[in-house]
Amino acid sequence: MCGIIGYVGPRPSQDILLAGLSRLEYRGYDSAGIAVIDGDGGLGMRKRAGKLAVLRDDLASTPLADGTTGIGHTRWATHGGPTDANAHPHLADDDKLAVIHNGIIENFAELKSELVGEGVTFRSETDTEVAAAMIGREYARTGDLVSAFRAVVSRLEGAYTLLAMHEDHPGLVVGARRNSPLVIGLGEGENFLGSDVAAFVEHTRKALAIGQDEIVAITPGGVEVTDFSGAPVEVEAFEVTWDASAAEKGGWSSFMAKEVSEEPEAVANTIRGRIHEGRVEIPELDGMDEFLADIDRILVIACGTAAYAGMVGKYALETWTRVPVDVELAHEFRYRDPVLSPRTLVVSISQSGETMDTLMAVKYARSRGAKTLSICNTQGATIPRESDAIVYTHAGPEVAVASTKAFVAQITALYLLALHVGRVRGAIDPVVAVEAVTELEAVPGKIARVLETEQARIEQLAHWMADTRSVLFLGRNVGYPIALEGALKLKELAYIHAEGFAAGELKHGPIALIEPGQPVFVVVPSPRGSGEMHKKVVSNIEEIRARGARVIAIAEEGDVAVLPAADEVLRIPLAAPMFEPLLAVVPLHIFAMGLAEAKGLDVDQPRNLAKSVTVE
Ligand code: F6R
Repeated sequence: MCGIIGYVGPRPSQDILLAGLSRLEYRGYDSAGIAVIDGDGGLGMRKRAGKLAVLRDDLASTPLADGTTGIGHTRWATHGGPTDANAHPHLADDDKLAVIHNGIIENFAELKSELVGEGVTFRSETDTEVAAAMIGREYARTGDLVSAFRAVVSRLEGAYTLLAMHEDHPGLVVGARRNSPLVIGLGEGENFLGSDVAAFVEHTRKALAIGQDEIVAITPGGVEVTDFSGAPVEVEAFEVTWDASAAEKGGWSSFMAKEVSEEPEAVANTIRGRIHEGRVEIPELDGMDEFLADIDRILVIACGTAAYAGMVGKYALETWTRVPVDVELAHEFRYRDPVLSPRTLVVSISQSGETMDTLMAVKYARSRGAKTLSICNTQGATIPRESDAIVYTHAGPEVAVASTKAFVAQITALYLLALHVGRVRGAIDPVVAVEAVTELEAVPGKIARVLETEQARIEQLAHWMADTRSVLFLGRNVGYPIALEGALKLKELAYIHAEGFAAGELKHGPIALIEPGQPVFVVVPSPRGSGEMHKKVVSNIEEIRARGARVIAIAEEGDVAVLPAADEVLRIPLAAPMFEPLLAVVPLHIFAMGLAEAKGLDVDQPRNLAKSVTVE
């Protein structure tokens, strides 16, 4: 989950590296470092614990001699705490070789004792320094950096992206990847490597995706990619569909504030091009009709917020396709003996497309004969590349660690998938399908209305509640995963205890938590239609109010039944029940952000977290 950048070209590299790292800082932000080969052919390196700003200030006060070949790293600590010594780059071969790394080298302890036995000494507690020492040892034998990589990678177990440069070879950066991301940016007379395209999108939108177990060497004039045995491989080119400004704060107080404001477009852009004359047709699924008509089970795998999107999606998938659906946390799925068959469709959901737990679950499902479909927000990422089919969400780059606009885009993609599969299987009444499409198309405007009418009030509420020590969230049916999402966001951003429950479960235990003054958010289903669920949830509200809870209801406009029961009512526009989650989640995102801000916390980079969790 660290961020990595490499540059070779005619320009001074330090500013390019620091700008790239600032775009990658979402991947890890407990220390950062760069190394450059300067004009005289010497290798300079600087690394500092703390956020990138600490390194930036350090370099501003005592600059490194600049050079046109460089690598940079922003870290999320795994082996060894966030100290200067453990920050990357790590040096070897008499400090002439610099190495950076993302991932975990699982057999580093045995490799380290082998090196210690040879008299190698270490300056850090990291697994990375072991890889650096091994590459240094090989390089000293051959003087060839690429072949040194080839010799070393075959001995490393686990997940890694490694980049290295050596002062004997200005104008060359070598990288390797296994189970961890690395992409190439192609410039004019300059080339880049990055953990993702954000590292270099400011300079070029032409990119190449590097496959699993491949080694790349970039020079200003070229790129060479081989597999671990040295055989040349074909690489897949793609054009980045967004520009650098999409990953800028653009006047917002935080990336999260900007990204919540982009929730309407995230939904609209995910729908775009997938509805034709009122029918959902996902072009990426062309040619899969026969398989989709024959599936007998759908299994959704994901982690965190993406898994909650999956839980919402289950309601739509089962309703519209009549195929049984299970949703499972990717890390739990992989370590049991699941029943899978060639008629199982495994749908993975991941904003980053790099979450290791999800990636491993996808590979496992494939190895057990299931077909895999990836719902992903990041072009060229590993999970879609390892899947049989891809449905991209088009939320644009999500930089804040907490997922917001990607969540609504994921639900949208799942609804589109459900309508597509339902049509292919003849499981959905065409009239119902047209109504669903009309509802879906209206969602962006309705989210915009929630932002317009409720945001200021919710922020005020969050401000008043800044000292709250615990908040509960209740929901029922499609509102249940939304309650879970509301609680997760509050935990991760405001560091306070928060739990989400299915409202019907309250009386089976959690109601004991209610004491006078306990704030409880309740996602209230619509009273329209039979109104049966609405009545039940209003009764749940009465039960907790009777025990002193302070109730904040999220209810549709015109629902007057909640008024006497709730202390506060946050309004969402009318929508068919299936579409309420896309609206009800918006106040909860705003609330968690508002409460964290009221406590003076960094909403973009909450403690202990990283956006892309590339370790298991
Ligand atoms: C919470 C959050 C995480 C991610 C989870 C999966 O706000 O962002 O729970 O949803 O780590 O990440 P992706 O979607 O990148 O696989």
